[in-house]
This record gives sequence, structure tokens and C-alpha cells, in this order.
Amino acid sequence: MEGGEANGLASGTPPGKASAPRSRRRFVLAVLAGGLLVLGGIGVFAVRYQADQQLLMADADTLAPDSSLVQQASAEGETAFQTHCASCHGRDLKGSEANGVPNLTDDVWLYDFGRVSEIERTILYGIRSGLSKGHNVTDMPPIGLQKILSPDEIKDVIAYTLALSKHQGDPAAVERGEKLFQDKGVCYDCHSRDAAGIPDYGAPNLTDDDWLYGGDEKTIYKSIYDGRHGRCPGWIGKLRFSTIREIAIYIHANSKESPESPSKREASDGSGGRPG
Ligand code: HEC
Ligand code: HEC
Repeated sequence: MEGGEANGLASGTPPGKASAPRSRRRFVLAVLAGGLLVLGGIGVFAVRYQADQQLLMADADTLAPDSSLVQQASAEGETAFQTHCASCHGRDLKGSEANGVPNLTDDVWLYDFGRVSEIERTILYGIRSGLSKGHNVTDMPPIGLQKILSPDEIKDVIAYTLALSKHQGDPAAVERGEKLFQDKGVCYDCHSRDAAGIPDYGAPNLTDDDWLYGGDEKTIYKSIYDGRHGRCPGWIGKLRFSTIREIAIYIHANSKESPESPSKREASDGSGGRPG
């Protein structure tokens, strides 16, 4: 093309005239190819957009686990989880007691019951994340530092809670611990009378063998003496809504709802509930 123009200039003909038909053909081909690329791009985007919309419009808790929408979402969710969450939650979703990061593969949930919509809410707004809609009802107070209980009293309360998770303990210490636990404003207000926890507060069950920070006496002592303030960031504004839902579906597919989950109760009454 440049050569043609140079020749045209040298022989006095208007620039580009000799090669005009060929360059026009090339131009048309280039426009066509470009157009096809743009259309292809729009096509891919439209398919993706439609899938995202379908996913977002659906009732997250009644999606059939074996539908292609859920399978696809779970695969996308896994990739996003590995990128954004695995650094704390582990590539296998099992968390870490040393860092107070919960296992996401079991049926024990700090908040709610492990349904897709509930997991999604936690991902959107986080826990003690600083976002106004984040879970942030209470913290585990520093019972020792605030001198609410003395170190010996804390040991008695530990004997009581360990006895609840079926470990033997000195019966006198267990009895003293029970009185302290059931005293107003000390423990039961947040962990409930039976110490089984309150999922609206994110206060864990102390009677099972599942621990967020660890169930050995030293770690339990630290939880009670110093208090705890586990945080999970909120992802609204950082990830697309569809990506957040995909991650929630991925976590749900790899975990179990808690035995108290309303969808399990509905399913066992025969009144409907989540399929499967
Ligand atoms: C104001 C509410 C509140 C009170 C009062 C409270 N807790 Fe907690 N506790 C929590 C919350 C919330 C957590 C979870 C903290 C987190 O997620 O970081 C927690 C966590 C714990 C843990 C860690 C459990 C684990 O799985 O690792 C233990 C142990 C515990 N509390 C025992 C007690 C005992 C014993 C008392 C009374 C002496 C008590 N708590 C009083 C709210 C409370
Ligand atoms: C900086 C570390 C960190 C990152 C990154 C992080 N989390 Fe968390 N996450 C935590 C901690 C710590 C908790 C427990 C908070 C508490 O004690 O209440 C938690 C709790 C949760 C819970 C609540 C589980 C329950 O039992 O109710 C869910 C769900 C969750 N995270 C999902 C995610 C997802 C999905 C991502 C990525 C998009 C993510 N987290 C990224 C640290 C993190």
C-alpha cells in the first residue's frame, strides 16, 4: 500500500488511486472480520449475561442441585473461591482453628443454617466487616481481662462446658461452673441456656466437639480470658453479584445444612422444601 502511494506521488497521479480497488476490498474484509469478532464477543457476553440473570432471578434455596445451572455455577464458584477465599478458608474449604476460620464443609454454621441464601448473605456483607449489613451482633467478650470472672472461675466454667461435650471432669468444678455459666450476663445470654449456641449472634455451640478456635483447655481458656473477634470481609462491590451467588452455590454443594435447617424440617414434614 505504501509502495503504491509512493509510486502514485512520483508519477503525478493522485495518491492511492492505482491500488484503490484492492485496498477497498481489504478494507471491506477487515470491517467484516472486525464485525464478526464484535458479534462473537457480544454473543459470548449475551450468553453469559443470560446465564447470570437466570441465576440471579432464581430462588437460591430451591435450585435443583443437579440442574445444569447449579453445576455450571458451582464450577465458576470454585474458581472464584480459590482466588478470593482460599487464602483464609483453605483450598479444601476446611479452614483453620489456629486462625479461627471455620470449616465450611460440615453441618456446623456460626450463622443461620447453611442454606444458599444465608451463605450468600454472609459473603455479601461479611462478619464484623465494618459494613452496616454485616453480621455483627456480639463479640466474645474478654471475660478474664474485664475481670468478669477470675482465672479459677474460668477454669470451673471450662470444666462445665467440657462436661457438656461429654468429657469427664471434677464434679465439684462442673457444678460451680454451671452456676457461673447460668448467671445473668456471664455466658448463657449469648450461648443459650443449654450452651448450644445462638446462630443469630454467631455464638457457637459449646456442647459439640466442633471448635472454631480449638477445644483443648488452653485454647478454650484463651477464648474466654481474652475474648474473640473473628472477621470475614464483605464482598459486595468487590465481586459481581453473580460471582457471589456462584461461590455460595459452590460452598453449599460441598457442605451440609445444619440439622435444624428449616428446609430439612420442611422436607421431613412433607411440606416441601429444598429438593434433594
Ligand atoms: C456477648 C455475647 C457473649 C458472651 C456473654 C459470651 N460469649 Fe462466648 N462467644 C460469643 C461469640 C459471638 C463467639 C464467637 C466469636 C468469634 O466468632 O470470633 C464466642 C466464642 C466462644 C468460644 C470459642 C468457641 C470455639 O468454637 O472455639 C468459647 C469457648 C466461648 N465463647 C465460651 C464462653 C463462655 C464460657 C462464656 C461465659 C463465661 C461466654 N462465652 C460468654 C459470644 C459471647
Ligand atoms: C481474611 C480472611 C478471610 C477471607 C479472605 C475470607 N474469609 Fe470467610 N471467614 C473468615 C473468618 C475468620 C470467619 C469466621 C468469623 C467469625 O468468627 O465469626 C469467616 C466466616 C465465613 C463464613 C461463615 C461460616 C459460618 O459458619 O456461618 C462464610 C460463609 C465465609 N466466611 C465465606 C467466605 C467466602 C466465600 C470468602 C471469599 C469470597 C471468604 N469467606 C473470605 C475469614 C476470611
